[in-house]
Amino acid sequence: MSATETMYILHHGLLLPTETHSTDSLKFAHEFRFKDDDVVAVTYPKSGTIWMQEILPLVLNGGDLTPIHTIPNWDRVPWLEESRLALVVDQLVSPRALVSHFPYNLMPPSLSTSKAKVIYVMRNPKDLVVSSYYFHQMAEFLEDPGTFDEFMDKFLEGRVLFGKWTDHMKSWMNTELGDRIMYLTFEEMLQDLPAALRRISNFLGRNHSEEVIQKIAEHCSFKAMKSNTMSNFSLVPKVYMDNDKSHFFRKGIAGDWENHFSSEQLARFTSVIRKELEGESFSLPWSM
Ligand code: A3P
Repeated sequence: MSATETMYILHHGLLLPTETHSTDSLKFAHEFRFKDDDVVAVTYPKSGTIWMQEILPLVLNGGDLTPIHTIPNWDRVPWLEESRLALVVDQLVSPRALVSHFPYNLMPPSLSTSKAKVIYVMRNPKDLVVSSYYFHQMAEFLEDPGTFDEFMDKFLEGRVLFGKWTDHMKSWMNTELGDRIMYLTFEEMLQDLPAALRRISNFLGRNHSEEVIQKIAEHCSFKAMKSNTMSNFSLVPKVYMDNDKSHFFRKGIAGDWENHFSSEQLARFTSVIRKELEGESFSLPWSM
């Protein structure tokens, strides 16, 4: 058996790591019953998932720091599709927050029938592929990424976790969720976190005071999260995540792609992304 076959399971054509996913967890996700006051932050991997696991409990609980300082991120705001959910679901207190990497078409039917809200967080794919490349080096449960050039090809062909980035985008940009979905970019959060937090807070009907917004922003900075043991994956043994190879909280910036892409790679990358999105009614929030 190849490394890919043992490290990943194939779910509706998407590669998912066996370390965190199983046929049982995927069945559990499909049958999951969303409640009307639930919120799920959806991301293509490396677009700001862990950031949302910090932000959502704070916004939902008026800036109370207890959850982010006492519960590891994976149990505090669990992944819909991962095995941990079944273990912690009964401990989640409403209003519940979840994260998911699923494309829209794989979300459980109860998302449509409930009034649960979705925040779709997007990141410039050029930075995302760089972030993912380093993550594959440190996450021992993922296939070695090879050279950056090889990894870029895999990314563009969708031979990576959760498939093609463009398919993910297309699915979430064309939902029937109406005003139950909010779109947010990683870059918007980087540029003005308090403004992004105000948008999230208003979307979730919290309308927090400026004092609460500033407090949340302070605890969701890159520096604060990097030193929060409940969020920085330092609790994860080295056999799963090797911090000597790269850090989960690596740089947390926009534009790092410029340090990695050659001009040939940039041309290849942009031409594939543009072609894949041809004819779509939405435009990307970044120049491509
Ligand atoms: P880099 O590898 O570019 O540093 P995800 O949580 O979806 O896996 O995304 C991880 C990326 O989000 C990493 O990007 C990580 O550093 C970045 N990140 C997480 N929290 C952040 C924060 N508070 N500020 C800036 N970047 C953050």
